[in-house]
Amino acid sequence: MTRIPAPFPANRPRRLRATPALRSMVRENTLTPSDFIWPVFLMEGTDAETPVPSMPGVVRRTVDRVGAAAKDAWDLGIPAICLFPYTAMEHRTEDCAMAWDPDNLTNRAIREIKSACPEIAVMTDIALDPYNINGHDGFVENGEIVNDRTVEALVKMALAQAASGADILGPSDMMDGRIAAIRGALESEGYQKVTILSYTAKYASSFYGPFRDAVGATGALTGDKNTYQMDPANSDEAMRLVARDLAEGADMVMVKPGMPYLDICRRVKTEFGVPTFAYQVSGEYAMLQAAAQNGWLDGKKVMMESLMCFKRAGCDGILTYFAPEAAKVLNG
Ligand code: PBG
Repeated sequence: MTRIPAPFPANRPRRLRATPALRSMVRENTLTPSDFIWPVFLMEGTDAETPVPSMPGVVRRTVDRVGAAAKDAWDLGIPAICLFPYTAMEHRTEDCAMAWDPDNLTNRAIREIKSACPEIAVMTDIALDPYNINGHDGFVENGEIVNDRTVEALVKMALAQAASGADILGPSDMMDGRIAAIRGALESEGYQKVTILSYTAKYASSFYGPFRDAVGATGALTGDKNTYQMDPANSDEAMRLVARDLAEGADMVMVKPGMPYLDICRRVKTEFGVPTFAYQVSGEYAMLQAAAQNGWLDGKKVMMESLMCFKRAGCDGILTYFAPEAAKVLNG
């Protein structure tokens, strides 16, 4: 409980803000490169990178370049990298079979990173949207995103990623029952050590726009994701989903987006006390970068402030496109 120790002037809170030394002594939270998970985009081809226009500073890279990127991240102190594949429209199908192909972009990239930099933790995304002709995270039947058939496909996708060497699986699809199904399959197939970071409180947000450009889903997506992603108006529901995902075998949980949902981060940490992550999503990144490019905000300062806010809100870590840049600032 917060108490004011004495009335003014005996109590002058500004005393402890007077110098950098005093401020650093009473600082309640810290940010280090080990707080970051770095999301990277993959594309087909060799020895190439292309910029993502709506995410200044972010590129898609070919698989042969991702090992070096992972090594750079590890050398900066970043413990984990998260992979997202770009799939052109002509390679998207209704059956999404590429999602569990052992040689899809993600699975090749996992193996590439594991040989170039075995120390870094490799995280993946589990959802059908990069492979789906209509851009949805699940199969679509008669205009409906079907749950149980999608979960079966997600399990196949999870096992292919685990077989390629993934350390952390990130189911981002928001189907019901997927954590239990994936955990059960991992246990019975010999992947007991593979962890699950569940996208538990994932909201139906418009802040994902630039990401959908980055993975080639913008043109593909028909309709919205409101029947599976959460209503931004809800908070108690997020607590029920955290309880459920933990009961089904999630090791860590995530709140997404990040900055507009810090209240959810705080509630999850306070009510459950489990490893809690936030995803500072593409739209948050784009807003800060756009304002910085216009000279309206100090880009470096708002980057660091925005990341510290997640720690203050109770997060153990942050998925952020700023990871390498912020790590460089922190490393001086
Ligand atoms: C796909 C997925 C999305 C993001 C991560 N995984 C987009 C979506 O649900 O439409 C968004 C990440 C970002 O905006 O940075 N399942």
